[in-house]
Amino acid sequence: MPKVDEYFEFENLNLGENEFVLRNLYLFLDPYVRLTLKEPEPEREQPINKAPSRKLVQIGQIIVGAGVSEVIKTNNPNFKVGDLVYALFLGWEEYSHIKSDAATSFLPINKDLLKYGETIFISAAAGFVGQLVGQIAKIKGMKVVGSAGSDEEVDYLLNELKFDAAFNYKKVDLDEALYKYCPNGIDIYYENVGGETLEVVLNNCNLFGRIVVCGMISQYNITDPKEKNME
Ligand SMILES: NC(=O)c1ccc[n+]([C@@H]2O[C@H](COP(=O)([O-])OP(=O)(O)OC[C@H]3O[C@@H](n4cnc5c(N)ncnc54)[C@H](OP(=O)(O)O)[C@@H]3O)[C@@H](O)[C@H]2O)c1
Repeated sequence: MPKVDEYFEFENLNLGENEFVLRNLYLFLDPYVRLTLKEPEPEREQPINKAPSRKLVQIGQIIVGAGVSEVIKTNNPNFKVGDLVYALFLGWEEYSHIKSDAATSFLPINKDLLKYGETIFISAAAGFVGQLVGQIAKIKGMKVVGSAGSDEEVDYLLNELKFDAAFNYKKVDLDEALYKYCPNGIDIYYENVGGETLEVVLNNCNLFGRIVVCGMISQYNITDPKEKNME
C-alpha cells in the first residue's frame, strides 16, 4: 500500500508485465469506500460492516477506489499511451502505478432478470447506481418505482428519468407508499439501502419475487450489531 506523500518518477520506472502508470482523471467517491476506512478504535472481536482486513485503509494511507484514467506508460501490448481506462483499484492520487491485465466496467445486474411488465422497486433511486438501474429497467419495459430522500430528487426521477412512480421516503409511510405505487406487488427489489426499508419491502414482494442486493447504505455506520434490524 502506498503512503501519503510518497512520490515516484515514472519516466525512469522499469515496468513489469501488465504494469501501468496511469494519470487519474476521475475517482469514485462511492459508499463502499466507507467500509474500507479503519476506525481509530480498539479491534472488535468480530468487526461489523467492514471490508476484509487486507482491504482496510489505515489512517495516513491512501484511499483506494475505482476511477477513469489515462495510460501514461505500459508494456501491455493491448494498451497504448493516451488510452482511457476504467480501473477498480486506484489510489486517490494524481498518478497510480498498478498491475492489471484488464480495465472493465461492471454493474451488478443481469439484464435477463428484468421482465417486461413486471414491477421493480429501487431504493436510493436517485443515486449513481439507482439512476442507471431505473433507466435500464424502463428500456426493458418494466414498471419502475423509486424512493429518494428529497423532493428535488423525486422530481428528477419522475420528470427527467421518466420513472413510473417515485416518492420521498422521508415524508411517507413506506408500507403505505409501496401499496399505493406498486398495487400489483414488487417483482424485483433493487436493494441499495437495507435495514428497515428491506423489511418493509419484503412484506410487499410477490411470490417468486427477486432481490438484487447491491448495497445496504443505511447500515454502514452502525456500531451495534443489534441495530442491524434483520432478526
Ligand atoms: N457506486 C458503486 O460503484 C457501487 C458499487 C457496488 C455497490 N454500491 C452500493 O450501491 C448503493 C448505492 O450506491 P451509489 O453509488 O448509488 O451511492 P450514491 O450515489 O452516493 O447515493 C447514495 C444514496 O443513498 C441514500 N442514503 C444514504 N443514507 C441512507 C439511509 N440511511 N437510508 C436510506 N438511503 C440512504 C442517499 O439518497 P437520498 O438522498 O435519496 O436519501 C444517497 O444519495 C450503496 O449501498 C453502495 O454501497 C455502489
